[in-house]
Amino acid sequence: MVELDTVIRNAVVVTASDVFESDLGIAGGVITALGRGLGPARREVDAAGRYVTPGGIDTHCHFDQPMRDAVTLADDFLTGTVSAAHGGTTTVVPFACQLPGQSLRAAVDDYHRRAGAKPVIDYAFHLIVADPTEAVLRDELPALIREGYTSFKIYMTYESLKLSDRQIISVLAVARHEGAMVMVHAENSDCIAWLTEELERQGRIAPYFHAVSRPPAVEREGTHRAITMSEIVGTPILLVHVSSADAVEQIRWAHGRGLKILAETCPQYLVLTADHLDAPGFEGAKYICSPPPRDEASQRAVWQGLASGVFQVVSSDHAAFRFDDPAGKKRHGEHASFTRVPNGIPGVETRMPLLFSEGVTKGRIDLQTFVALTATNAAKIYGLYPRKGTIAIGSDADVVVWDAEREVVITSDLLHSACDYTPYEGMRVRGWPTTVFSRGDPVVDEGKLLATPGRGQFLRCGRPHPPGA
Ligand code: URP
Ligand code: ZN
Ligand code: ZN
Repeated sequence: MVELDTVIRNAVVVTASDVFESDLGIAGGVITALGRGLGPARREVDAAGRYVTPGGIDTHCHFDQPMRDAVTLADDFLTGTVSAAHGGTTTVVPFACQLPGQSLRAAVDDYHRRAGAKPVIDYAFHLIVADPTEAVLRDELPALIREGYTSFKIYMTYESLKLSDRQIISVLAVARHEGAMVMVHAENSDCIAWLTEELERQGRIAPYFHAVSRPPAVEREGTHRAITMSEIVGTPILLVHVSSADAVEQIRWAHGRGLKILAETCPQYLVLTADHLDAPGFEGAKYICSPPPRDEASQRAVWQGLASGVFQVVSSDHAAFRFDDPAGKKRHGEHASFTRVPNGIPGVETRMPLLFSEGVTKGRIDLQTFVALTATNAAKIYGLYPRKGTIAIGSDADVVVWDAEREVVITSDLLHSACDYTPYEGMRVRGWPTTVFSRGDPVVDEGKLLATPGRGQFLRCGRPHPPGA
């Protein structure tokens, strides 16, 4: 019999399909036993009355991504992964973003250098394809997919990143040929440009007008167009950071036609609205992200979509810019037009507690759906399953012990990101991760970091196996 390193006793184990009482035996960083009365082990953890879930997988976060205009992201691969771990996330999949004119390979090499010996939890990379040249499409992308970079994001908006429809179709064709997953940021760029010009001409430049410049119709059109291109090429896509009832409607429409359209949303679209951007002074800049938070009707539509299978993934889209910082939200001062404020908000640490509290505690989703949305589906979609994303014999011992009754008031001081604010300041949540294990190592216990930089391992992703496929 294999000697156990750790036994987590009396746990209420939750997977995407089941809830059952069991001990968990861990040896060599993987789960080696599930059952009653396991042991003994060198480390004994009593989880009586506690849920034990798979460690979260956050498949949409931006760490140490170079920005234009002398702006910098707050978090690198150390602070970003430390923050993630404190919130119950044990795997992150940030982006390696190709700059226009850069080779994809150079982008990947650059991000590996940036990660260096920093991550405290395991990580993989999505690519961002911003310049799909002939060489990228013919050689680089297929080669990188085969090396374990099996997903990539494309943009329909942002001047320096956006692709034309023709380019999107070419990228989708490579994904179909190679069996990769394309993530799409779906907003109509030209509509945003026109609306923005109109608003600026009228002097409507306060942070709130960011939301006005990117209304749900802009997302609806982009979503429909992306779905159509996916149908025409015959390859699935994953729509990222879906925010509005209009976009949800488009995805339901696609599902009704039998199309394989996957979708991700984020906590900001579940608990924030555009009213947050209307906070006094420049405070609204703290909530500027794209797409912007919407209204309560959209919140309800997204919650319904989570409960009914429209969405497979809840990620954070953590893109943290410090607020009180000339390299962050105040790059152009407190009176700058919303167009000059960097887009993105922090959330890698609050993703799991917010969904647990607002979703499970409040009865909007059940525990198994919580696990599916925060870990299992992402592992399947991005080729990390069953090593990651579940509690099963042979899976990595990435597990989270939850105190479902613990009430916590979220404040920036409590969190571990290098960002100087949280959009969820003062929000009371019920349910908090108390102990977080990564490959059997306790990395966070009762708010204390136990992991050392560099212990996180780079993961090569396999081909996507989306749930239900
Ligand atoms: O505003 C956002 N979402 N910033 C991050 C970049 C992106 O489009 O996901
Ligand atoms: Zn995006
Ligand atoms: Zn993003």
